[in-house]
Amino acid sequence: MAGYILALDQGTTSSRAILYDDHARPIKMAQQPTTLQTPKAGFVEQDAQQIWQTQISCAHDVINLAGLLATDVSSIAITNQRESIVMWDKQTGKPLAPAIIWQDRRTASYCKTLAAEPASRGESDSGVRGKSALSKIAGSDTGLNSGAQHSMAEEVQRLTGLRLDPYFSASKIAWLLENNPKLSVRASRGEIAVGTIDSWLIYKLTGGEHVIDVTNASRTLLFDIHKLAWSEALCARFSIPMSILPTVLPSDGDFGKTKKGLFAKQIPIQSVLGDQQAALFGQGCLDAGMAKNTYGTGCFMLMNIGKQPKISEHKLLTTIAWQRKTSPTRPDNLSFDQIVQSGMRLLQPPKKEVTYALEGSVFMAGAIIQWLRDNLGMIKTSGEVEDLARQVDSSEEVVLLPAFTGLGAPYWCSDISASITGMSRGTTKAHIARAALEAVAYQTYDVLIAMQKDSPHPLTELRVDGGAANNDLLMQFQADLLDVPVLRPRDTEITAKGAAMLAGLKTGLYDDTTMQASWQVERIFEPSMSADMREQHLSKWQQAIKRSLMTL
Ligand code: G3P
Repeated sequence: MAGYILALDQGTTSSRAILYDDHARPIKMAQQPTTLQTPKAGFVEQDAQQIWQTQISCAHDVINLAGLLATDVSSIAITNQRESIVMWDKQTGKPLAPAIIWQDRRTASYCKTLAAEPASRGESDSGVRGKSALSKIAGSDTGLNSGAQHSMAEEVQRLTGLRLDPYFSASKIAWLLENNPKLSVRASRGEIAVGTIDSWLIYKLTGGEHVIDVTNASRTLLFDIHKLAWSEALCARFSIPMSILPTVLPSDGDFGKTKKGLFAKQIPIQSVLGDQQAALFGQGCLDAGMAKNTYGTGCFMLMNIGKQPKISEHKLLTTIAWQRKTSPTRPDNLSFDQIVQSGMRLLQPPKKEVTYALEGSVFMAGAIIQWLRDNLGMIKTSGEVEDLARQVDSSEEVVLLPAFTGLGAPYWCSDISASITGMSRGTTKAHIARAALEAVAYQTYDVLIAMQKDSPHPLTELRVDGGAANNDLLMQFQADLLDVPVLRPRDTEITAKGAAMLAGLKTGLYDDTTMQASWQVERIFEPSMSADMREQHLSKWQQAIKRSLMTL
């Protein structure tokens, strides 16, 4: 088996394409920025055509840059920003509205009202299907827990592992249908398609496949993570016709081939994972209890929790990490000799096995540094923040609470606002820069504490990636706060590598040895802070959060 894997990494702020060789080594990368539009307060949109055009152009560029031909590429792997949605015309393939991005909060009040509704209003309300999505909030009782005490928030969590929050796809789709009556009519006629970014890219690449991978489906708020199927009840509750949703495939499924003429040959798409799940895979967190934290626009900590979903009791998300084909296995009651004598026929056939993860999603991480750069003009490039923060030994009493779009896990509070507190006459921009980095680490600490309460596995180390993972000051402070070693790998392009690795394992280009060899630690940050000092830092942060929550 030979060939290169072309990994497409469609993120919130850029499209990238990376080529991996038969040892899972990155050969070349091409990248193009994408533009976020914020037409109104709370709205965050992107041009879906721009997402596609930048992505396909990077794919062509990287093959040229590497001096290869498309005929050298054996598989395409896709990883993508999750939850964001695109709606398009099934016939023409044209987007029908701008993509609504995961950071968009336009449906905040809708979600809040819906969350408080009872899960089921009983028999007399069964005619609710077909009413407008955002003017009607209670729904049909099909499949929803009819226990009178259950709220929609609890029911959504039970079925999907998620929170009823505008972050996820369902309320964004509902909003589009509600606010465009023509779309709603066309949706009921089966003329339109909706999907997450993976779905959109696959549709464009193949010229018509309408599919989604299971990890992306698990971020829509419409997917039952136990039954591994769209929830009819939730679709009805959000007034989303199931006919507009894509077919769900395992992460290493067969997603179709690129359409004729796009490349010099038709290339099969052989793995798809949401970006945070791809990073978990790429970090080699294949056993229950292993965790990674990606410091990107936001911060996403995921812990592998094994083959059974565990619904969080501490405000984290339960999500599908991946679904893959297993190797044939020997049944417990048979010996190797019996298997060999049977000519291997008694081996258990491969299954599509699901691995679950607990996730803590923090909305502002690298974005806080961008705010210092773009809104306050304190630094010219994000990389300068470390030098600025190092000009002081501590942030003293300054705390930056980065609730610019509310707070995600484990607070889930969209009303709270950002603040800087504890300033004195002597406060300088260096103190603020240091407080900004500390805020990233504090939020990760809060998620980790919730994760430790939910998971039976104690965290013994944290693997890190993403742009801000290159900040040594932040990584040391993170290790000090968490009191566990923080491991930074040599190759920090973990997301694309995770998706490529999955495609390579599926096709036999890679094996377990390739996987192990491809993850090498570059630096370990050992915790070195005293317990007293850690306590002082944490109490400063916790008081700032408490004060802000009290003002609501
Ligand atoms: O859940 C949102 C996440 O997938 C976005 O990731 O790296 O594009 O900021 P990123």
